[in-house]
Amino acid sequence: METDVGVSTSEEANGSAAKKKPTVVFVLGGPGSGKGTQCAYIVEHFGFTHFSAGDLLRGEIDSGSENGLMIKSMMNEGKIVPSEVTVKLLQKAMEESGNEKFLIDGFPRNDENRAAFAAVTGIEPAFVLFFDCPEEEMERRILNRNQGRDDDNIETIRKRFKVFLQSSLPVVQYYESIGKVHKIDAARPVEEVFESVKAVFTSINEKVKPHGRVQQKSTLLKLQLKWKMSFLRNGVCKGY
Ligand code: ADP
Ligand code: C5P
Ligand code: MG
Repeated sequence: METDVGVSTSEEANGSAAKKKPTVVFVLGGPGSGKGTQCAYIVEHFGFTHFSAGDLLRGEIDSGSENGLMIKSMMNEGKIVPSEVTVKLLQKAMEESGNEKFLIDGFPRNDENRAAFAAVTGIEPAFVLFFDCPEEEMERRILNRNQGRDDDNIETIRKRFKVFLQSSLPVVQYYESIGKVHKIDAARPVEEVFESVKAVFTSINEKVKPHGRVQQKSTLLKLQLKWKMSFLRNGVCKGY
């Protein structure tokens, strides 16, 4: 099933035509909190395209690009790659996707990421999903992940947790201060976490639905109720 989530529009420079601006949802949370897992479900249910900043950086290493070695050594230290590199990869991926609704997972990881994305793309997120999970649970999950990642070892995991606390949580706090964060308890089983995620996307859908459509539905329900009452009053439904 695919459900729609609204797309904002903005006037083009000449003011003649309305140009669609992509809808972006940032998906944040500590390493191993379940961002990638939940994004796969959101894609299936709500028609978003998912980009993981970490996956794009790993792709860059595998492609043998000139930045590959620098990215690899930073990732192995759990450090945050310069924003210029990551924002370029995200921008290219969005432009080539053909979609207008994006989940951007594991980004922004620090304030520099956040500011660079806004400056380069001109896009602010519609909202931010934050997966809240205790460190011990995230550590357990990463050590069981088995995806052959060089940085999924206990030494690098500890460094990544430190960077998360020092650089990434303040970004979540910033978005919280402007009322854009939907915090999810991510320590529960996958299906339970997704129930909460689904509720967020469904309620956003309801809010962005054209007013007329919502009104039409409630008017129809009221009419049906009126007919039923009138049948009952006139005894038409006798015997049922
Ligand atoms: P992230 O993208 O945030 O680093 P992942 O989605 O890769 O996290 O999840 C990390 C590991 O934990 C994966 O092996 C995944 O299958 C598992 N996992 C994800 N969500 C849950 C959950 N709610 N409960 C238990 N294990 C989970
Ligand atoms: O999100 P994920 O766990 O896949 O990220 C793995 C690594 O990729 C991070 O620890 C970091 O080194 C790098 N990364 C980054 N900037 C981002 C996202 C990930 O440098 N915005
Ligand atoms: Mg991930």
